[in-house]
Amino acid sequence: MQLSYSRIGGKNSTAMTDSKPLLFVNASQVVTCAGPARARKGNEMRDAGILRNTAVAVSNGRIAMMGAARDIEHAYSDAEVIDCRGGVLMPGLVDSHTHAVFGKPRFEEQEMRAGGLEYLEIAARGGGIHASVRDFRERSEEELYDLAAPRIRELASYGTTTLEIKSGYGLSVDDELKALRVIGRLAERQPLRIVATWMGAHEIPQDYRGSDEKRAAFLAMLVNDLLPKVVEQGIARFADVFCEPGVFTIEETRRVLEAAGKAGLGLKLHADELKPAGGAELAASLKATSADHLAAISETGIHALARSDTVATLLPGTMLFLGKAKQAPARALIDAGAAVALATDFNPGTSPTVNFPLMLTLGVSQLRMSLAEVVIGATVNGAAALRLAGETGQIAPGFAADLALFAIGDVRELPYWYGARLCVGSWKAGAPCHPYESVGKLNPRPPEVVPTG
Ligand code: NIG
Ligand code: FE
Repeated sequence: MQLSYSRIGGKNSTAMTDSKPLLFVNASQVVTCAGPARARKGNEMRDAGILRNTAVAVSNGRIAMMGAARDIEHAYSDAEVIDCRGGVLMPGLVDSHTHAVFGKPRFEEQEMRAGGLEYLEIAARGGGIHASVRDFRERSEEELYDLAAPRIRELASYGTTTLEIKSGYGLSVDDELKALRVIGRLAERQPLRIVATWMGAHEIPQDYRGSDEKRAAFLAMLVNDLLPKVVEQGIARFADVFCEPGVFTIEETRRVLEAAGKAGLGLKLHADELKPAGGAELAASLKATSADHLAAISETGIHALARSDTVATLLPGTMLFLGKAKQAPARALIDAGAAVALATDFNPGTSPTVNFPLMLTLGVSQLRMSLAEVVIGATVNGAAALRLAGETGQIAPGFAADLALFAIGDVRELPYWYGARLCVGSWKAGAPCHPYESVGKLNPRPPEVVPTG
């Protein structure tokens, strides 16, 4: 069968509204990820729920019915038919960790690292996050929105339909609120489901460095001035801290996150990214929603996460881009019973990629995860890392119709054709997210990709 995605779907597809029923037919596989609406831990990650000969009906933005097309199409005779033409239909990917609102890229640092400078050494010389902060502060809200919007549509073009975005390049009251307003505006105007995280504790900014008093003043500013404003304005759902030797200590992280938790925000940590420091253990003890990075997690940390409901979010693109040989111990985490999610960490310093399926490639090839594990990690467990597991991340009746269609005949091809853009359409709550009308132009699918039936 020849796959051609230059036009999928019937007439009026752009005029589709939430209430217009949709019927997805002719997928070679529907990867449902169906199961409990919570993080899948350990062995529970082994089943991605792959169905054949399955049509999916969507009504009012939700999955309404699934089954053989001939059994359900009569109930949806008015529906717009989306012909999947032998592609793979999956839950839209959930990218639960990004820093997608930033100004200029930082490509000069890549060669500096190749020359032997470490990530935190570049930061100590005023580069790294500091460079992004200086740049961010100079830009207006409008300019930052205009820079982020096309980057976000690029993320969507690879199959992401839910996106977490952190602040953390402002690091002053006004600039952090500006970042969160930009994220809020993106959430209103862009077609993805966007979740905002306040990361005022991303770095100690240069204007607060040089003495213990200044450092204490920055922490006090975060907790006493900035956090109450973030909460009062309702512009973030989570708080995150870069808990790492040389950045924020365990005690500082605990202080910021305890205050954020009391104020009603969900908790996240950049934990044990470069050196083990007990970040994972802290995340578990604070009942954080997720602990992220974890390339340097300790044995105790692995077991603390396995015993907890905290999702271990692994970001293999970051280690790849930083040139690190070491990746997070995904196998040990899953085998110990932890819930693992994958995400891009899209940011200008350590992971300038919009390609979520590439993280699945790294998941299998570098982290030694199975196909089912990377798929669950990019859907259900990503959703759980955003407390959205009851809403998105699986194709099952009642869930939001957040869907992504890939031009492959077998889901194993998603991590296999590495680096390729295989998504040929996506929907958020039944509304177009990555518009399938344009896929013929955007996605020159490798010609040798032939559906395997
Ligand atoms: O997740 N580790 C800290 N924060 C980001 C990098 C941010 C940057 O370098 O701009 C990360 O890797
Ligand atoms: Fe990050």
